[in-house]
Amino acid sequence: MNVSALAIEGLEAVDRGEFEDAVLSGLSRHPRAIPARFLYDERGSELFDQICELPEYYLTRTETGILEACAPEIAAIAGPGCALIEYGSGSSVKSRLLLDAMVDLSAYVPIDVSRRHLDATATALRRDYPDLEVRPVCADYMGLSELPGEVNGARRLGFFPGSTIGNLTPGESTAFLRRARTLLGERGALVLGVDLKKDPRRLHDAYNDSAGVTAQFSLNLLRRMNRELGADFDLAGFAHDAFYNAVEGRIEIYLRSLSPQVATVAGRRFSFSAGERIHTEWSYKFDSAGIEALADSAGFVIARTWTDPANLFAVTYLDAT
Ligand SMILES: C[S@@+](CC[C@H](N)C(=O)[O-])C[C@H]1O[C@@H](n2cnc3c(N)ncnc32)[C@H](O)[C@@H]1O
Repeated sequence: MNVSALAIEGLEAVDRGEFEDAVLSGLSRHPRAIPARFLYDERGSELFDQICELPEYYLTRTETGILEACAPEIAAIAGPGCALIEYGSGSSVKSRLLLDAMVDLSAYVPIDVSRRHLDATATALRRDYPDLEVRPVCADYMGLSELPGEVNGARRLGFFPGSTIGNLTPGESTAFLRRARTLLGERGALVLGVDLKKDPRRLHDAYNDSAGVTAQFSLNLLRRMNRELGADFDLAGFAHDAFYNAVEGRIEIYLRSLSPQVATVAGRRFSFSAGERIHTEWSYKFDSAGIEALADSAGFVIARTWTDPANLFAVTYLDAT
C-alpha cells in the first residue's frame, strides 16, 4: 500500500463517521431523511455519470449545449488570469468547456464529497491539462470557508452546474450562495446551471428512466449503508419513488419500503412499515423570477443568462459586486 492510499483510507474513516451520524439521526426522526450528498460514494458517482447519458435525462445534454455556445462569452466576461472554482465537480466534464475557453487560467479547484471519484478526475485532468494547476478539495461545499492558497490573488470564478443547486432547499440555497459569494470575493462571479420548470411529464420521466439507472442510483444508498455501516438492508425490499410536486416546484425522491420490515444499521434496529419512505433528494425547478430571487437573496447580480431554444435549462452568470 502506498502513502497516498493510506492517506485516502484515513480520510475515508472520517467520511464514514460523518455518514454514520447522518444516517442514524436521519432514520431516527420522522419523516425519515438522509442528506443527498451521501448518494455519492464512488459507485454513486459512476451511476450519476450513467444517468447523464440517459435519453430521458435532458439536463446534461441541454446544459452542455448551452455551455458549448456560451463558454467564449463567459471567458470574455470573466477576463484572463481567473481561478475556476467548481462546486460539486463530479467528473468535471462540463468544466472542460470552460477550461478550454478561459484565458491564462491560474488554477482549477474542483470541490466534491466523492473522494475517490474526485481523486481519479483530478488525475485525468492533470494528464490532459499538464500546464494547469489542479487543486482538488474533498469537502462539503455547504461548510467550505477557505480555498487552497494557489488561488490567492486571482479573480475567482465559481462554477455550479448540473442543477445541483436544486438539491438544496430554498433556505440552504441562500446559505450556500452567501457563503460562495464571500469565498469568491468582491471581484468574483458564479456561473450557475439551473433546471427550468416545464411539462411535469418530462420532469417525471427524467427521474424515472426506463432502464432503471436512477433507481439503482437511489438504491445504492442502501448498498453503501450495508457496506460501510454494517447494515443489513434487503435492496429488493425497497423501491425508488420519484415524482414532481407542482405546488413546491420540485422533484421529490424517496426510498419506499415495500413491506413491513426491520433493518439493523451500525448495531441499531429500525422498523419500517409498508409504504414508509426515506427521503433522499429534492430537485427544485426554477423560472426566471425564481432565479432572480435566488441571486438577490445572496446579494448576487445577474449579468447574463443563456438558455436553450426549448427553454429547458438556464445558465446564469452572477456577479458578486
Ligand atoms: C448532480 S451531480 C453534478 C455533477 C457535475 N457537476 C455535473 O454537472 O454533471 C452533483 C455532484 O455534487 C457532489 N455533491 C453533492 N453534494 C455535495 C456537497 N454537499 N458538497 C460537495 N459536493 C457535493 C456530488 O458528489 C456530485 O458529484
